[in-house]
Amino acid sequence: MKSEHGQFFTPARLAEQVVKGLRLPEQGTLRVLDIGAGAGALTAALADRACDIPGLSLDITCVELDGDVVPYLHQTVDALNARVIHGDVLELAVTGELGEDYDVVVMNPPYGKLAAASAERRAMAHLGVETPNFYAAFMAVGYLHLREGGQMAAIVPRSWANGPYFKRFRRHMLDHISIDRLQSFASRSSLFSDAKVLQENVILTGTRGAPQGDIELVFDDGEPQSVSVSRVVVPTDPERFVRIPTGAERELPGVPLSAVGLTVSTGKVVDFRSRDHLVEPGKNTFPMVYQGNVHGGMVEWPREVGKPQGFVCSPEEERKYLVPAGVYVIVKRFSAKEEKRRVVAGVHVSETPVAYDNKTNVIACPDQDTAVGLALWLNSTAVDTYFRSFSGHTQVNATDLRGMPYPSLDVLRSLGAGRPVRMPSQEAIDSAVEELL
Ligand SMILES: C[S@@+](CC[C@H](N)C(=O)[O-])C[C@H]1O[C@@H](n2cnc3c(N)ncnc32)[C@H](O)[C@@H]1O
Repeated sequence: MKSEHGQFFTPARLAEQVVKGLRLPEQGTLRVLDIGAGAGALTAALADRACDIPGLSLDITCVELDGDVVPYLHQTVDALNARVIHGDVLELAVTGELGEDYDVVVMNPPYGKLAAASAERRAMAHLGVETPNFYAAFMAVGYLHLREGGQMAAIVPRSWANGPYFKRFRRHMLDHISIDRLQSFASRSSLFSDAKVLQENVILTGTRGAPQGDIELVFDDGEPQSVSVSRVVVPTDPERFVRIPTGAERELPGVPLSAVGLTVSTGKVVDFRSRDHLVEPGKNTFPMVYQGNVHGGMVEWPREVGKPQGFVCSPEEERKYLVPAGVYVIVKRFSAKEEKRRVVAGVHVSETPVAYDNKTNVIACPDQDTAVGLALWLNSTAVDTYFRSFSGHTQVNATDLRGMPYPSLDVLRSLGAGRPVRMPSQEAIDSAVEELL
């Protein structure tokens, strides 16, 4: 396995799942493209399926960049009369040498990031799509090289489905293909047991240019269930998040944060760029709050978090780094592994201006009762389950928080009324929130 080319070869059992959602015709010749083909695992799995259909033949093209792997690819696919191209698929896509109008494209692409100024990113911009990393670039190359009605099957990390950096890519993709099937491996499936896979992965099967119908959802290698597209891509969602409902979450009543009249932003202080400002708390310093200060459902300050708890700056710099005295709900951007919930919020009542680290999300509230109500809502199991249905990663960003449903300001205020800032037990949080559902 070589990390420079993002190599992880698909185990046979998983490759079977990747091609499972493709609709194969009873007869004719299927033009197949396998990009980043490695040793040919996906082509082999597809050929296995095609074997059972006597009237069907495959006309296969495999593209692989790594010359060391190409001989293994030949070993797998020569018997299938496949054409092997030793080259860079993104380059070939731009020069038009990849061919076009494929019936099927399969892929398990490499994962690395693409720098904004990289040749690959520019190449993709040339094709009209913004792709923040290799796997999105491969997906775009895939669906752009399908004929109308052709299908793509890709096993990829889940981050494209809701990551803020993927917004334009998502729009482009959903404008080109309809989603037929999503198979998610949220629970560290045994299918991945022989591979070192850290991210949540999904298999996406889609059809170019087809009207979007119901979507087949599969968890691990369980039974497929059909769900309406509006549960996956909510029609009113400007971000076009692709949610993967688990069935455990319920529809939460409520409106987006902006409709509640609240705003969320990321903390203003990037600690490693602000070393000169970070001091022990004392006279003429402001509180410096990190996500580690969120503890027990509130912001504890000062707290032993291994970082200075004070912040100094000149009066001219205050606007740049500080927020005014007030009541805030702080939501961690990165939850720790041992934390049960992804969404972890705490109330902070600050009598002075305060500096928040940029690993926190900061929601300014009009009063303490509203803040406590909002923290109860955000810390509830119902909200956490909802969050997991659209987010595959542990990060909670301001965009995620903006799009989630919230009760109105009055309801939040009465939920928090008379309660202390420190959150009660999970059970008590859930039973308080339950009454609103
Ligand atoms: C994650 S591996 C998957 C291999 C194979 N598809 C499988 O499922 O086992 C990704 C493959 O893409 C190849 N690759 C990386 N960048 C490429 C590029 N720009 N063009 C073509 N292949 C590339 C890597 O060498 C690697 O073999």
